[in-house]
Amino acid sequence: MPIQLLEHADSIRRAIAPGITLKRKSALGQFMTPAPVARFMASMFPPSTLTKCKLLDAGAGVGALTCAFLDRWATSDGFSFHDAQIDAYEIDPTLRAHLNRTLARYLSRLPVSYRVVPDDFIEAAAIQSLAPRRYTHAILNPPYKKISSLSSHRMILRQVGIETVNLYSAFVALALSLMKPGGQLVAIIPRSFCNGPYYRPFREYLLNRAALRHLHLFASRTTAFKDDDVLQENVIMRLECAGVQSNVTVSNSTDDSFSDLVTHEQPFDRIVFPDDVDKFIHVPTSLGYNAIELSKGVLFPLLENAA
Ligand SMILES: C[S@@+](CC[C@H](N)C(=O)[O-])C[C@H]1O[C@@H](n2cnc3c(N)ncnc32)[C@H](O)[C@@H]1O
Repeated sequence: MPIQLLEHADSIRRAIAPGITLKRKSALGQFMTPAPVARFMASMFPPSTLTKCKLLDAGAGVGALTCAFLDRWATSDGFSFHDAQIDAYEIDPTLRAHLNRTLARYLSRLPVSYRVVPDDFIEAAAIQSLAPRRYTHAILNPPYKKISSLSSHRMILRQVGIETVNLYSAFVALALSLMKPGGQLVAIIPRSFCNGPYYRPFREYLLNRAALRHLHLFASRTTAFKDDDVLQENVIMRLECAGVQSNVTVSNSTDDSFSDLVTHEQPFDRIVFPDDVDKFIHVPTSLGYNAIELSKGVLFPLLENAA
């Protein structure tokens, strides 16, 4: 019977999340991923023939995302790693204690080693970004919080060439900077980065360093973190570090049951219009043309392999 510790992590999340004050939740962006979303995110990684996996979970909370990833490996679903090394960054000591205990339970069951790192990920990663790239996989639900223009985070990020306004985009940019070419990054983040003017440098950073492989959109704004009453549109994206851009898989579902999951392939120039200096990222919810495309008179061939 393959090990499944995601349910265990999820039961910890449900037990402790109601006790975290709203103040602390907002200060540290502690909106943890429910099991169905974590499982879906882990399923978005392509099959891999690598024998060594190096996984990054930045802002790991109680470990739902790492558990979802390791549980997928345990079922031999597309991963043939001989061993995996995990770096899980978590700044909160209470969550870290749970994270440590949960990850320890994998040691006797999978050829895995792990480090639970107590450091501030922004500070640690900014230093490491000068070192060689190394992660093969990253799975992230980063904290969401504005970075004020005079904060030390803003200064540190600027020093490593990352100009951004929120912790979530900083986490994704830094994680990408720590990956090997070909490395796969899956992250759930607010949709605001797709077209907010302040996120233009972040979009350019991503699109210059990675290929966008998959975007998933929830139809309901309350879906992904409904236990926390978070009213925000989220997207899940998969990026391939240094990949060559081709078609993008676009999927959507009403909610985290994924019972009405629809998936289709879109040409990249339907996602980012070729003449768009702002590099807005569009998430078409169907193969039909939207109002912007029609108003621009843009016509793209429909793909035959649409599911
Ligand atoms: C949105 S929660 C997600 C937790 C977990 N990844 C999940 O999906 O359930 C973000 C986590 O990042 C942690 N965090 C916030 N700021 C951090 C920082 N600067 N460095 C490392 N971890 C941080 C928070 O304590 C929180 O547990």
